[in-house]
Amino acid sequence: MKITSAEYLKAAVKPDQFPETALPEVAFAGRSNVGKSSLINTLVHRKKLAQTSATPGKTRLIHFYDINHRFSFVDLPGYGYAKVSAETQRSWRPMVERYLQGRPNLVLVVVILDIRRDPAGDDIALAEWLSHHRIRHLFILTKADKLSGNERRNRRQSIRTRLGTPEGQELILFSARTGEGRDALWKEIQAAGRSGGEA
Ligand code: GTP
Ligand code: MG
Repeated sequence: MKITSAEYLKAAVKPDQFPETALPEVAFAGRSNVGKSSLINTLVHRKKLAQTSATPGKTRLIHFYDINHRFSFVDLPGYGYAKVSAETQRSWRPMVERYLQGRPNLVLVVVILDIRRDPAGDDIALAEWLSHHRIRHLFILTKADKLSGNERRNRRQSIRTRLGTPEGQELILFSARTGEGRDALWKEIQAAGRSGGEA
């Protein structure tokens, strides 16, 4: 996908603040610090469109971006970071669930996992919740640059088992460092855009 424009639209916490757009929308979800914002920047070939940080819990609000006037991208706040206050952790769920359930133009949720770690309870709960609500989603294993070939295969299999992902469903390896997986993910995004989110 050739990127001709990538623009930050706004930050929001509740539906009446979400931008009005009919563009197919793709949301990026995952644990705090897993690399959501970095993945968005890699997809759109911009170093600093989405704010990244070595400090977990950076993305607190729901951030909206316009990509090529063709797609809307959404950087969701990360979950599972122990050091943010209990209050903030409690507010994550209703905020994100309200977004995921109430967004008519949402065509795909990209769930991002760290290839080095087994999915945690939060990851599995999100995957089950998305399946239950019949929201189209796929899994990305990021930070793949940190592992060698053999380790990658082992980790991918272990994550597949833990998630209960069927053999036919691909788990895309990704790296914001090397750009690996970028084209494969764009293919999925474009397919979801064409189908309007129908599986
Ligand atoms: P929150 O917004 O806090 O939830 O974090 P996030 O999921 O948006 O993560 P972010 O993109 O800010 O990245 C967190 C850290 O991981 C940063 O130090 C990144 O440089 C690093 N990182 C992200 N993706 C990769 C990757 O593919 N490879 C490597 N080696 N490091 C990565
Ligand atoms: Mg972020």
